[in-house]
Amino acid sequence: MEKIIIQGQKRLSGEIEVHGSKNSALPILAATALVNGVSEIHNCPRLSDVDAAINILTHLGCKVTREGHTVTVDSTGMNGCEIPDDLMREMRSSVVFLGAILGRAGEAKLSTPGGCEIGLRPIDLHISAMEQLGAQLTEDAGKLMFQVPQGLCGARITLTFPSVGATENIIIAAATAKGRTVLTNAAREPEISDLADFLNACGARIHGAGDSTVVIDGVEALHGTGHTVIPDRIAASTYLLAGAMTQGKICVKDIIPAHLGALLPVMKEAGCDLTVSGRWICMSAPPRLRRVKMTRTMPYPGFPTDVQAPLSAMLTIADGTSVIVENIFESRYKHAGELVRFGAKISVEGRTEVIEGVPYLTGVHTVAPDLRGGFALILAGLAAHGETTVCGVEHIDRGYEAPECVLQALGADIKRIQEDGTGEKKSTKEFAAEPTQNSSAAVEPARSTAQTDESDTADRAK
Ligand code: EPZ
Repeated sequence: MEKIIIQGQKRLSGEIEVHGSKNSALPILAATALVNGVSEIHNCPRLSDVDAAINILTHLGCKVTREGHTVTVDSTGMNGCEIPDDLMREMRSSVVFLGAILGRAGEAKLSTPGGCEIGLRPIDLHISAMEQLGAQLTEDAGKLMFQVPQGLCGARITLTFPSVGATENIIIAAATAKGRTVLTNAAREPEISDLADFLNACGARIHGAGDSTVVIDGVEALHGTGHTVIPDRIAASTYLLAGAMTQGKICVKDIIPAHLGALLPVMKEAGCDLTVSGRWICMSAPPRLRRVKMTRTMPYPGFPTDVQAPLSAMLTIADGTSVIVENIFESRYKHAGELVRFGAKISVEGRTEVIEGVPYLTGVHTVAPDLRGGFALILAGLAAHGETTVCGVEHIDRGYEAPECVLQALGADIKRIQEDGTGEKKSTKEFAAEPTQNSSAAVEPARSTAQTDESDTADRAK
């Protein structure tokens, strides 16, 4: 296991890029299983959740190779319809494969995805939608078995909540269903539009993705294509908050500023100067951040729940008292207790977090509770006096590509070492040789951006 060690109080400055969006790459990789051909996915982030998605595709009989930030999926030989328990547990959001497997194989077997650190993560909306498209479900000892005796047929579906994953599963399953599907109260996240762009490039007929009503006219089959994943808006937001916590001045380039719309007014209220131009956002932080009266997490385009924990960290050292209400997940404050150990003054009552700003934090030994909460602890360590160690880095590696490399490039004193302290990991993570073919073993672990090589640059340019 590894840990991250930070000597705090270093002012961050400079320019960075961010990796491709995890939450776009995952549904797009799932959708490649529906394609009877070869899909080249560029700007695909090197993350353990992406490794897990590749393992599922391999298990389903797809041929998957990865070169830098390009993942190539040949699904012509796909012959499976089951996601085994171990692979389901490796990545909770594996349920997003359901629509593709049903659309391609006409049946699907998966285990009920357990909850995770941020909530129970039910999939009732996914199941109900697949049944409305013609799937029949039988459950047995935690196994979900779907049959589609008549093939998937288009339907009019209304989601009671604009679930991102359910929206993605419906769009994927409806892409090759018979007839038209009209989905209302769909999630509007940018990752939905990116998924639809990929599927339309494969020959699908999807209209309205990104709005709350999406119309999908099923087609016979989908062909392969090349697609470049959009930049990760959550990672971009997180690094801007890192700059804000260290009186820094950073620019995040090659992003889509509109995707960070709800964050900008919050950072402005905290006293940051923000300049947006083209595909850049530059941020200059004040000597002392101001409190942010009230932030409510909402479905897009509202304030993203995935930035709630990093924002909580920033507000611990703001001048005044801030309130955050988490409206999306029922238990997404596991980082609060750890932040209190840094000297933060936080109280949590149900879905409401009250943060009374303190003049400074003091570095501690801490353990990441989950992906975004884990990065909140890194942010606290960057601002804190003294040394911080963060264990449980495997949570953070699910959604951020080599964070220590990005932060080192901005001037942070941060390194990744083995938990037992032996040997400092080089500033980039070693990884096994690229698998040549359909390696049944897990693909090589994620690689850091610092090892970006020419092929990567070429990938990004595509
Ligand atoms: C996606 O999760 C993201 N994950 C999450 O990012 C993100 O926080 C979330 O959307 C909200 O934006 C991926 O895209 C891989 P939901 P998802 O379905 O699809 C309830 C991260 O840190 N719900 O929109 O699982 C659910 O319990 C991760 O990158 C049901 O009740 O989110 C939650 O309270 C975390 N029944 C709310 O809806 C269902 O069938 C939102 O869930 C499905 C969801």
